[in-house]
Amino acid sequence: MLSGKKVLIGITGSIAAYKIPFLVRLLIRENAEVRIVMSQSACDFVTPLTLSALSQNPVSIKPFNESDGKWHSHIELGSWADVFVIAPLSANTLAKMSTGITDNLLMATYLAARCPIFFAPAMDVDMFEHPSTQSNIQRLQSYGNILIAPTEGELASGLLGYGRMEEPENIVSILKAFFSKALALKGKKILISSGPTIEPIDPVRFISNYSSGLMGNALAIEAASRGADVTLVSGPVSSLPVHPNIRLVKVTTAAEMHSACLENFTDAEMCIMAAAVADYVPIDPQNQKIHKSEDKLMLQLKKSVDILAELGAKKRKKQVLIGFALETNNEIESAKQKLEKKNLDFIVLNSLQTPGAGFSTPTNQVSIISRNGEVFPYKLKPKSEVAVDILDFATNLID
Ligand code: CTP
Repeated sequence: MLSGKKVLIGITGSIAAYKIPFLVRLLIRENAEVRIVMSQSACDFVTPLTLSALSQNPVSIKPFNESDGKWHSHIELGSWADVFVIAPLSANTLAKMSTGITDNLLMATYLAARCPIFFAPAMDVDMFEHPSTQSNIQRLQSYGNILIAPTEGELASGLLGYGRMEEPENIVSILKAFFSKALALKGKKILISSGPTIEPIDPVRFISNYSSGLMGNALAIEAASRGADVTLVSGPVSSLPVHPNIRLVKVTTAAEMHSACLENFTDAEMCIMAAAVADYVPIDPQNQKIHKSEDKLMLQLKKSVDILAELGAKKRKKQVLIGFALETNNEIESAKQKLEKKNLDFIVLNSLQTPGAGFSTPTNQVSIISRNGEVFPYKLKPKSEVAVDILDFATNLID
């Protein structure tokens, strides 16, 4: 599975760097091609000479390396790689990746790389649990970078807890699983809608909802990493994924989302409608600011088009159509009615009654209801893992 694959390893300054020569040996044994880029401080933990000998390639540290007298281009390294694995990832480089600070070759390579990027944090438990580290990890995931989560155990500090870099054998297994999964949806066209819509009332006010787009982004990243050509139609959100297989179509209103979805549906083999589309929109949005006058203001709204129902009516036999249902009461019954009415292959139900599920949270708890009405409940998990469950279910339905 790894034979001939080009694996670029980025090493940063962490004690776990001593494990990377083992990782390189395992990858070479699998007939992968390995190149290495290191931060200057990583050289305090493991020598470039060892890594160069094991990888059978020069190691890049600075753009110009006195040792081999060559120019090491971040663009060339990033475009060479099929996959970039940053391991171990220190808290310092993690923070730089989250904000884009580019003060060395490794960071320039990270920003320029267009291949899938894995990151394996390694640090002390207190550093790992710090809110800034956790939010940096979430930020990287929202860019589409794939977390190789640290494990629990004895740390170099002598403390016990999370922060140990995943073992090299397991990193190799993760890469193997990634490359085998990368073929599952290869070349399939998938349309995903995500985020809220914003409906203007006047130039300064609007109607919208709390959708963050995190679930739709996670689905787009997961589908793209399985090799699908993804079109992500997204309403306004604070962060969007970056991936070579994801084409972004940014929209604002329900009407714009409607046209973008219709335009991209005909060619799609699968469509997942994760967007929180406004059901009612102002009839007569004003061009000038509405000034306050009377005690009461009547705002007239009209029903927007139900995009999913329209796609359901147009759906060809082989197209897979998936909807979401956000419910607060009578959940399963209501979701089943939507499944039927909108002609879906399955519906993903999330209940606002479950703590940690629904809008604006990094986690979600869903049940999938299949075409024949069977209900499959899942546990509360990070949205990236919920995306895996949904796409596993969907992949079984696609030809
Ligand atoms: N949806 C849509 N167009 C709309 C409204 C909803 O495509 N104008 C889609 C959503 O993206 C979701 C599904 O329909 O996949 C169900 O959305 P939900 O808000 O749960 O239900 P509604 O059909 O809008 O019904 P209600 O608001 O009465 O629950």
